[in-house]
Amino acid sequence: MTKVNSTPLILNGRHLADEVLNNISNEINLLKSKNKRIPGLAVVLVGDNPASLTYVNNKEKTSKKIGIYSEVHKLAVNVSETELIKQVKLLNNNKNIDGILVQLPLPAHIKSDKVIEQLDPNKDVDGLHPYNLGKLFSGQDCLVPCTPLGIMEILKHYSINLSGIHTVVIGRSTLVGKPLAALLLGKNATVTIAHSKTENIESVSRTADILISAVGKAKLIKSSWVKNDAIVIDVGINKVYENGISKSVGDVDFENVKSVCKAITPVPGGVGPMTIAMLMANTLKAYKKND
Ligand code: GUN
Repeated sequence: MTKVNSTPLILNGRHLADEVLNNISNEINLLKSKNKRIPGLAVVLVGDNPASLTYVNNKEKTSKKIGIYSEVHKLAVNVSETELIKQVKLLNNNKNIDGILVQLPLPAHIKSDKVIEQLDPNKDVDGLHPYNLGKLFSGQDCLVPCTPLGIMEILKHYSINLSGIHTVVIGRSTLVGKPLAALLLGKNATVTIAHSKTENIESVSRTADILISAVGKAKLIKSSWVKNDAIVIDVGINKVYENGISKSVGDVDFENVKSVCKAITPVPGGVGPMTIAMLMANTLKAYKKND
């Protein structure tokens, strides 16, 4: 049964992100007023992938806006794995840097796992080092990947109960799907991870009380994938051209799904801004631990 003419609650990630950033900015102002060192974030970008460049620019802009010291290291697309690791080690030893993020994806000739393993786990603000992922999966405090952390903050902010609730995560990446499953389990949710090889994915998706899509396919999720009154979290940021204009759309076909679901994150303005806000929060957390 499809609901007709109802409007879902819009889970406003931009508003929440602004609140988080404002709190961090206040903490940094306090540090400045006490003449303390301020937190520092280094982002390493290899090559000139336009999407990565946009993400890195946004991270730098946000750092500066809230008073985090920021460095961006741009390396040529043909840089060797050894050279990249050398840069990571320099940043590991840099006392002004609390957080290091190596923007992904890396070019095919570089093994991301090898590079990430060289990060100082205490500066791994992406939460992707095996040390942090191991801690996450064993339920210990650690640096947690930013997008899953941002999703958990949205769910908490809107008082969305997770205990015993069936959540379906579509996508099994190390960046989003897998760590998110660990976080949801930590809040006693029942978790299904579906992915490109899942049989009858549409029916699996339809069993979700909370449906989270992190696939990267524009408008994949239609109303037939969504249970009546489900909560929908859209992690996708997909560039599409409509009438000659480039715009970002999510994995969820918003117009199609909005009459079925109870609440939904928009794209843009949902999970995306929270990812950046959590990167800043992780940088402050690393600073506090390391200082
Ligand atoms: N590329 C897309 N999202 C991310 C992210 O959260 N961290 C890194 N390092 N690269 C990304």
